[in-house]
Amino acid sequence: MVEVARLRHGSGIGQPLTRRDGVLKVTGQASYAADNHPPGLLHAVLATARIARGRVAFLDLAAARAHPGVVEVMTPANRPALAQDPDDKSVPFSFRLDLLQNDRVRYAGQPIAVVIARTLEAATEGAALLAPRYEAEPVEASLDAADVFVPEVVGAGAPGETWHGDVDAGLAAAEHRIDATFETPMQFHNAMEPHAVVAAWEGNRLSLDMPTQGLSLTQMRLAALFGIQPEEIHIRSPFIGGGFGSKLLSGPQVLGILAARLVGRPVKLVLRREQMYGPVTHRAPTRQRLRLGAAADGGLTAIHHHVRTATSRFDDFLEPSAGVSHTLYAAPAIATTNEAVRLDTGTPGFMRAPGEASGSIALESAIDEMAYSCGMDPLEFRLRNYAEIEPVSGKPFSSKALRECYVEGAASFGWAGRPLLPRSMRDENGMLVGWGLGTATFPALMFQGEARAVLRQDGTGLVETGAHDMGQGAWTALAQIAAESLGLDASRLEFRAGRSDLPNAGIAGGSAHTATAGGAIHVAGAQVIARLTEIAVADPRSPLFGAGNIGVVARSGRLVRWDDGSRSEAFGDILARAGLQEVEARGMANADPTAAERYAMHAHGAVFAEVKVDPELGQVRVTRLVGAFAAGRIINPRLVRSQYYGGMIWGLSFALHERAVLDPRTARVVNADLAEYRVPVNADVPSLEAILVDEEDPHVNALGIKGVGEIGITGTAGAIANAIWHATGVRVRHFPVAIEHIV
Ligand code: MOS
Repeated sequence: MVEVARLRHGSGIGQPLTRRDGVLKVTGQASYAADNHPPGLLHAVLATARIARGRVAFLDLAAARAHPGVVEVMTPANRPALAQDPDDKSVPFSFRLDLLQNDRVRYAGQPIAVVIARTLEAATEGAALLAPRYEAEPVEASLDAADVFVPEVVGAGAPGETWHGDVDAGLAAAEHRIDATFETPMQFHNAMEPHAVVAAWEGNRLSLDMPTQGLSLTQMRLAALFGIQPEEIHIRSPFIGGGFGSKLLSGPQVLGILAARLVGRPVKLVLRREQMYGPVTHRAPTRQRLRLGAAADGGLTAIHHHVRTATSRFDDFLEPSAGVSHTLYAAPAIATTNEAVRLDTGTPGFMRAPGEASGSIALESAIDEMAYSCGMDPLEFRLRNYAEIEPVSGKPFSSKALRECYVEGAASFGWAGRPLLPRSMRDENGMLVGWGLGTATFPALMFQGEARAVLRQDGTGLVETGAHDMGQGAWTALAQIAAESLGLDASRLEFRAGRSDLPNAGIAGGSAHTATAGGAIHVAGAQVIARLTEIAVADPRSPLFGAGNIGVVARSGRLVRWDDGSRSEAFGDILARAGLQEVEARGMANADPTAAERYAMHAHGAVFAEVKVDPELGQVRVTRLVGAFAAGRIINPRLVRSQYYGGMIWGLSFALHERAVLDPRTARVVNADLAEYRVPVNADVPSLEAILVDEEDPHVNALGIKGVGEIGITGTAGAIANAIWHATGVRVRHFPVAIEHIV
């Protein structure tokens, strides 16, 4: 634990620094992939299928090629060969891609041709001139599809079925029972920056400007697809305008690269907004049945969480919504089961707390219903059923300050004295007022990452890792860890990230990026300091000579004796005397399998919502949201608060706004734009408060980081739905909640 103790003395970790990229972004100087214009650049535009199933029978290639600005049209007939089947997904976290392998159409919005032209306008016109004709086949677009299957795994590898204890007996013995079915919609990624690529080939070397949450994985998959070495691919991804899980490698980006190969010139391809509704994954719809039993004293006797979801016809991602029921409440019997149907849509994928977001809505709503049925306050009920160990796995938690989250959140919100009965509160304008609570949970994950650290004789440092900043502030938080690990002020440190030629930092996903990349940086920095220490303590001319058994710490550019702070030496002096320009080390971090075997590791939180509902119109306004979250060590409280705000706004969006509507006749999304696919705007977002609850976790990883990116969404939507019930007495089990559900 000396490593962790050292950190408290440093300057970097725990400081509420503003984003290093903030000014660049708000002044428009930050350059995103599509801002790149290499010499000779051509523009590519996708033509996409307007049917969801069948084949492309005809494309008017002659008309498109006759356009004066069009250079080439890429179709299955002339698409450059690939070394790997696009349906091969042996690279982790990857999906089957549609890369013009044939004339089949698997979903509406699938790319069917790429038009390459001298201008964006010409490419757009060329794509319109293709005027495709199709042979269409009947489609399936409903969660009620007859062909139901039971999956063996859901999400990224969770079991499709889990049984713990005797659920039927628990339900039979219960005094109170809830049997409720919840529906959550199909949702699409609407990052401000659409998927884009600027691709240039030079022989077999590939240069890419492309937003990605996974530089190394993307490099690996592209290498496999094109039959070249990963090192021959150079990806720059300095700024990412939002990813949400969708920005691993997408098919359209590969089509841009193929287009560049075909024409032998650099090509830019940027998805249009409506083209994001198909080929870049989405969150699948769910129908979740929650059966709960509770004894007369309010103790849960059983939880059965059954999920029906949908995947595509050609791939297998299944929203793992029931996972939250494994961990949140103590019950002697818990079962989670899944079933799914195949729809003629693009493949669903990772999207903002995949599983936990949709699943916690259903669980938290059902828990609220059960609390009321037991005549208990929803907070009291949750404390009554607080899981001291993880119920399904039986493991202790590596740390769990959820009780403190409930207490601190409730105090700040003013929860005490909440009337049990719905429709009990009105404001001065006659609006119905309701208060609701939702519990937040998200696993504390970590992947393998690597970093390199250097200390130079001039007293400056360099830390580099192929990390990704998709807006969450990684570039800032990781630089803080880097500064801390080298005992340098951030102003003396160069921090490089966002490029594929840097050490592999894993993926920015699973809320695990700070733990992964930060963990690697921490190790690399510690190695550098250890080497410098070896040199100093062995040198009779150093004031640190002989400090070996006592140890030294790195602070403000100096090594300082642990026992006697007045005896210290500047890094530069140590290196100069040793005749070294610099010391350099690499560090690797990975999840500790022993910890995962012994402990359940999750971040937690409690979200309190106030809504006001117009009793005549049914219009819902969220007026307050207070979230209290415990996620281990906090690297930068300002950025973490922003992450929680963002999460809570996602939750609000889930509760009241976002929904993609699939036309059952055509399997096309009918609201594939930001006019009709609603996301909250400023006027929808109330006063937000995020409370950072102290939590120390000695087991989760070396830095004690649990991750903060996704947890905020998981408590919030349920809290809002519960508040709507408390305001109106109407239990809406269909999301997003709409006026017609209430009045
Ligand atoms: Mo996330 S859905 O792990 O980017």
